[in-house]
Amino acid sequence: MQNKLTIQEIKKVLLKYNNSRDNLINALHELQDKHTLNYISNQIMDECASYFNLTKAQVYGVVTYYSMFSTKPKNKYRIYLCKSPVCTNMGSEDILNYLNDKHKISLDNTDNELFSLERVECLGRCGKAPSMMINKEVYTELSPEKIDKILNDLKS
Ligand code: FES
Repeated sequence: MQNKLTIQEIKKVLLKYNNSRDNLINALHELQDKHTLNYISNQIMDECASYFNLTKAQVYGVVTYYSMFSTKPKNKYRIYLCKSPVCTNMGSEDILNYLNDKHKISLDNTDNELFSLERVECLGRCGKAPSMMINKEVYTELSPEKIDKILNDLKS
């Protein structure tokens, strides 16, 4: 798996933006989304600093200020399992245990290259609980069978 953006790929993204500092956040969003490991690498910060005429410390300040940016590599598929009351009542703990036991995906497992797991507050799909989001897609009415299908589809 390619796990970084090349300098050429970073520059190609940056050239889509006017080099006004106002565009830094949008460029960072796109660069993070394009990075296989979904984070803002040192190289991305260097290239952004140079392109937007900022110091690296200024770019770092922006990246660390906003919670949607990460300075650490993430897994390809990031699972966000709802832990709010409705989903909990509808079995999200069973889903958590199933992910742990059957798929070896757990909250503290950093060895899994493909999947990471986090608990999050309500995803706004309480009517079809339990719910989870993988990257930006929400999945509802989860069951062990549905988890198997979703994960197998992503792996294939
Ligand atoms: S409580 Fe889980 S989606 Fe709202």
